[in-house]
Amino acid sequence: MVKIAILGYGVVGSGVAEVLQMNQAQIAKRAGENIEVKYVMDLRDLSGDPAEKLLVKDFTIIENDPEVTIVVESIGGETIAYDFAKRALLSGKSVCTPNKALMAKYGAELLALAAEKGVALLFEASVGGGIPLIRPFNDALLTDEIETVSGILNGTSNYILTEMSENGTSYAQALKNAQELGYAEQDPTADVGGFDACRKLSILLSLATGKQVDYEEILTEGIDKISTEDFIFASELGFTLKQIVNGRICKNGVEAITAPFLVPLGHPMSTVNEAYNAAWVKCKAADNVMLYGSGAGKYPTASAVISNIVDAVGAKYTSFVWSAEKMPVLPSDAYVKSKVIRVSCDNPSELLKSVKAEKSITLEKYPNFAAWLTAPQTETETAAVIAEVKKLPGFKSVEQVLRVFSE
Ligand code: HSE
Repeated sequence: MVKIAILGYGVVGSGVAEVLQMNQAQIAKRAGENIEVKYVMDLRDLSGDPAEKLLVKDFTIIENDPEVTIVVESIGGETIAYDFAKRALLSGKSVCTPNKALMAKYGAELLALAAEKGVALLFEASVGGGIPLIRPFNDALLTDEIETVSGILNGTSNYILTEMSENGTSYAQALKNAQELGYAEQDPTADVGGFDACRKLSILLSLATGKQVDYEEILTEGIDKISTEDFIFASELGFTLKQIVNGRICKNGVEAITAPFLVPLGHPMSTVNEAYNAAWVKCKAADNVMLYGSGAGKYPTASAVISNIVDAVGAKYTSFVWSAEKMPVLPSDAYVKSKVIRVSCDNPSELLKSVKAEKSITLEKYPNFAAWLTAPQTETETAAVIAEVKKLPGFKSVEQVLRVFSE
């Protein structure tokens, strides 16, 4: 019998307890032993919940109990979670966590500690929710040379964008739905602001390079300024709109960005909808690999955490190469992307005669908007184009500038 403790009994923590109960026989068969939750730690009293009888409020009880060999850290964040994860490892317990904030900030340090203590630190659910992603990435793809790592890695923002685009749902209503469905973080700022996806990108790039890629250095933009018109103009130009992470491994650093991107219709990433996630990885030999599945939510995330618990029980995991040495994020001017620029003006057809466009459109429904697709260009070049456009007769305002996805 393996005894575990669950820290944080929110959406994921309670999901882990439920799925352990629900799939007990199958899990025991895979692990070779029964797995029992001995403690649940939470700030609340959990009155009436079956976990009430397992509730402890003091981490030292768990830390000092030699019977507990695995700790599930599902508190979230990077403060208390870091303290407890570190203390669990120091006391010789394996840690399984879906916590991307913890791993993005302290991954290198905690992995080194786990190796020193001869225990596991496993974080399958930290990127891509229920998708088996970290394991194939670390085990299979890293035997190849990874060139680019892209993806849709935030279920909440992908759900919101899909709802806005497919069903005309307002941004506010779609966000409320995402919260009710258990996709969004308690404070959804990290979801809609791109910071959650950016941390996930930093984890994948740190694994891909074996060095620490600091998420704070990644250019990050959220979906909060996306409007209905953006979807309409995107579709007319042959794109869909997605919150994308985009990383390229270069000799002297990584290019890395998290932002709303236009994805060409027909690209496999354009079909990733609702709370589904996908990682799109380009390798030297394997070429393009897409890992796709449920990216958020109670049970998909719990399933990934439990797969880690089973791995920890059987010590069936490969080691991670992720040192504290920094891998620099290259200046944002390194991103060469086509852009779709949309401006408001008096006479769109007239204004479009003066811009350098690969493709341009005006729409009858929006008599004051002009939109065009530029050739691939740097951020500085785009800023220069916009500065010139602002001088054109009839120009009123820049409504939107969106990058076009390319590996
Ligand atoms: N809030 C996260 C998301 C949960 O929406 O993707 C999974 O990490």
